[in-house]
Amino acid sequence: MQRCPSVRLSNGLSIPALGLGTSHDGGYSHEAVVYALEECGIRHIDTAKRYGCEEALARSLSESTVPREDIWITTKLWPGDYGYQSAKEACRASAARLGVEYLDLYLMHWPDSMIPGRSKREVRAETWRALEDLYDEGLCHAIGVSNFLIPHLKELKEDCGVVPHVNQVEFHPFQQPWELVEFCRKEGIASEGYSPLAKGQALSHPLILELAKKHSRSASQICIRWSIQNGVITIPKSTKAQRISENCQVFGFQLEDKDMAALRALHDGRHVSWDPTHVE
Ligand SMILES: NC(=O)c1ccc[n+]([C@@H]2O[C@H](COP(=O)([O-])OP(=O)(O)OC[C@H]3O[C@@H](n4cnc5c(N)ncnc54)[C@H](OP(=O)(O)O)[C@@H]3O)[C@@H](O)[C@H]2O)c1
Repeated sequence: MQRCPSVRLSNGLSIPALGLGTSHDGGYSHEAVVYALEECGIRHIDTAKRYGCEEALARSLSESTVPREDIWITTKLWPGDYGYQSAKEACRASAARLGVEYLDLYLMHWPDSMIPGRSKREVRAETWRALEDLYDEGLCHAIGVSNFLIPHLKELKEDCGVVPHVNQVEFHPFQQPWELVEFCRKEGIASEGYSPLAKGQALSHPLILELAKKHSRSASQICIRWSIQNGVITIPKSTKAQRISENCQVFGFQLEDKDMAALRALHDGRHVSWDPTHVE
């Protein structure tokens, strides 16, 4: 891959704008992750306790020759572990499974909590205080949230001290939450987009295929490039070496303003992952 740009977080750290997603959906490929690190120059990997592959990822990291400090590792706290003490324990357990002494970024995975009888806002705030302490202790170099909407972020700001460094949300041509992205920009929260290919749904859209032809690129490269040109960190997932290689070749071309405008018109509000709209 040509040099991958970084996005500067509010605490001064730089996160590579392109990372590799992992998932429980479609399995985990050790060979593909090692290939991404060794052959494609990938230096950012996204995972989560929920995906059940932190231990497998530890094996891939240890097999690669890339030094730990050169790789940005994000993992996530599952709502079943929300609450102050359980969040701290879950973070330590994730780091242990990953075989690392620190996490580059730790995210609250979802705004809802699984603690009956308590207000969701209160649980989010209590959990966030644990992440703030993990950040102070240095176990997490940056902390953030995922799938949070503007009301969740406003409440967290009222209740807590550290503004999240990142909000990871669904972001692809059919799901463009501009109001949220703009709110985050104003608050100094970096936007990270997941499912950039709309889980493959975007790859057969006629406009995206047309732009791919125009730029002599693939449909996936158009989607990934579009996210990066919008300033949204992106983490396409593939378990296939050839596709990972393809998904990294996105720095040698530029989408024109009219291409960006055409892609912007594809938003139809569809979610291919989950929709947090109704989480109080
Ligand atoms: N925070 C959250 O709540 C949340 C939710 C969802 C996802 N995520 C993160 O975001 C990452 C990416 O999201 P995602 O996996 O939902 O969707 P995605 O990256 O949009 O799409 C992944 C799908 O596209 C296929 N694919 C990848 N590259 C391709 C290419 N060049 N040509 C054709 N097909 C290709 C993959 O299949 P193969 O693997 O077979 O190549 C897989 O089926 C996840 O791995 C995870 O890390 C976070």
